[in-house]
Amino acid sequence: MPLDAALPFYQPVADEVALFEHAFQHRLPLLLKGPTGCGKTRFVTHMAAKLGRPLHTVSCHDDLTAADLTGRYLLKGGDTVWTDGPLTRAVREGAICYLDEVVEARKDVTVVLHPLTDDRRILPLERTGETLEAPPDFMLVVSYNPGYQNILKTLKPSTRQRFLAVEFDFPKPELEIPIVATESGLPESRVVPLVRLANALRALKGQDLEEGVSTRLLIYCATLIRSGMKPERAIRAALIEPLTDDPDIRAGLLRVADVTLG
Ligand SMILES: Nc1ncnc2c1ncn2[C@@H]1O[C@H](COP(=O)(O)OP(=O)(O)OP(=O)(O)O)[C@@H](O)[C@H]1O
Ligand SMILES: [Mg+2]
Repeated sequence: MPLDAALPFYQPVADEVALFEHAFQHRLPLLLKGPTGCGKTRFVTHMAAKLGRPLHTVSCHDDLTAADLTGRYLLKGGDTVWTDGPLTRAVREGAICYLDEVVEARKDVTVVLHPLTDDRRILPLERTGETLEAPPDFMLVVSYNPGYQNILKTLKPSTRQRFLAVEFDFPKPELEIPIVATESGLPESRVVPLVRLANALRALKGQDLEEGVSTRLLIYCATLIRSGMKPERAIRAALIEPLTDDPDIRAGLLRVADVTLG
């Protein structure tokens, strides 16, 4: 069996694979920016498998604290026992830790990220008195979507400038067509009009729509069609309804679909 057989499918769109490999090799943290459903999570999953490192993913939210990442004392049968959080576990194991939507996390999270993302590469655990030194195989990857954040929810320069950064966007049609076909099993010839429609809808971003149709939604749509659903119904459920709640905008999107698909 070839070595790559177990790798999650990821179609590179630019030089992001090489960048990730360099970052890993030189122990530099990496920031991925890009719209929802454009392949960030899939990319990290693929790279972790490619580099043979375990992956610990944390979806950040506005209640996420430093202790959720580092760990805490928990009651276990009358005793209090220290329990590592996902970041600490990743540091101990030399794994890749992926913090998704990192801008959502509480401010105190930056306090643990800073010493880990400069040349010290240490994780001080205040509660246990330990200071962990990150092994060479440990890597921190974070991502966020610059699109729908309000201005207050962005990274401070002192955090942002600790990371190499790469911007993701939806793949060009020549790449997105095979991606959608591979993921859904729908033949490429039937994916072509869906990708054309997605790009027509993406052109409306900023005017009527907050975010363009994601590759993820295109795959949903192609999957429904592949399983026998009528294309018009699948398009409405996967490419139109998820984008808006506004009836006028929806009517406009349906017109774009009619015009684009002829
Ligand atoms: N370059 C690619 N190669 C292979 N699959 C891709 C690629 N880009 C997108 N996909 C497909 O699109 C789906 C959505 O991508 P993914 O979950 O990685 O998005 P994301 O950028 O992490 O979105 P979010 O910000 O919402 O978490 C994946 O499950 C995968 O099927
Ligand atoms: Mg994701």
